[in-house]
Amino acid sequence: MSLAFSISAALRTPRRGITYFAIARSRQLFSTSKAVADTSPLQVFHGVPPLRSFRRSLLFANRTVGLVPTMGALHDGHLSLVRQAAAENTDVFVSIYVNPTQFGINEDLTTYPKTWESDVRMLNELQKELDSKPGSGKISAIFAPSTNVMYPTLPPSSEINGKGSFVTITPVAELLEGASRPVFFRGVATVCMKLFNIVEPERVYFGQKDVQQTVVIKRMVKDFYINTEVRIGPTRREEDGLAMSSRNVYLGARRRKVGVVLSRALRAAAAQYAKGERSRSGILWPANDVVNQEMLKQDDLPAEQRARFEVDYISLADPDTLEEVEEIDERGAILSGAIKMLPLEAPQEGEDTGLGGGHGPVRLIDNIIIKPVS
Ligand code: PAJ
Repeated sequence: MSLAFSISAALRTPRRGITYFAIARSRQLFSTSKAVADTSPLQVFHGVPPLRSFRRSLLFANRTVGLVPTMGALHDGHLSLVRQAAAENTDVFVSIYVNPTQFGINEDLTTYPKTWESDVRMLNELQKELDSKPGSGKISAIFAPSTNVMYPTLPPSSEINGKGSFVTITPVAELLEGASRPVFFRGVATVCMKLFNIVEPERVYFGQKDVQQTVVIKRMVKDFYINTEVRIGPTRREEDGLAMSSRNVYLGARRRKVGVVLSRALRAAAAQYAKGERSRSGILWPANDVVNQEMLKQDDLPAEQRARFEVDYISLADPDTLEEVEEIDERGAILSGAIKMLPLEAPQEGEDTGLGGGHGPVRLIDNIIIKPVS
């Protein structure tokens, strides 16, 4: 392929889609730039200017960048997004940054798991797997900024009335998770806006596990005309159905076993839909029944055996506005829920109480998408 052909073909081809991808991948073979050579090891960037100049070199080489934003403590859910990004782009950037502004003042910012070494190891392992896949993109940057880099003017505030430059996406960010965690989506939208501006990725990757986050990010990208495509990867689960989460390490064995109640409840509701039920009450009652039964069961157990929890919400919502719906129509719906596993009572000698000794509550969220009827 001549250089003239490949550049003009790439320019003519729509930015998104398979054809462009194929051309970009074949261009990679012809790239002579050292900075973008296929053999480059995983590079870690801490500052914005070097990352931007690397990103620019990729742009000039007609390569495509998929960004996977994370807060580290990586697990298979994160890795599945990186795999998806590598299948759809020549280059994947993974950001690892525990963003303070999305944690409320009483939340677990200080104890949020930080596992930098194992994160980097996991990404290196994944890179080996990607190397062996013909046609796959690669992880070409880990972006691990400090808080001074991400919040260059004022210190990050978690106060509702805190000062600073923030992105707010209302009303979707005020519902469900936002009702219990008022600064959460302001922090998420703000840090993602920064990351998108720094990396300027062709595509950004988010997990369905945090479904409201995907709705907020899609709304932000649309309303601010951000030049990127939002791609959503399916929720990765443990064998018994518990959605993987960096926070699961806090559960310990006893709460871990009971925590699966949320996915059981949502599956019971989805099964009603599969049977033809369309009304809110007809779909949600089995979910409420599952959680109520489990609560009663735990209440009846002695303190040293039980794991109690509270239900924050079980919701059946519109897929775009997240307003509660009375009836599911052809546009489908989002079934979602949040529970709070309460601190462990009467921990026993030698018991696996999880990180933090079972002292703090652990919030679990999950969802099932009821697909639109095509
Ligand atoms: P974090 O919780 O680290 O998650 C990073 C990405 O991984 C998110 O898009 C999340 O939805 C996805 N993810 C988490 N668990 C998953 C699972 N079990 N299956 C599939 N995907 C999963 O979400 C955040 O970080 C932050 O809010 C962030 C977007 C990075 C902004 O700070």
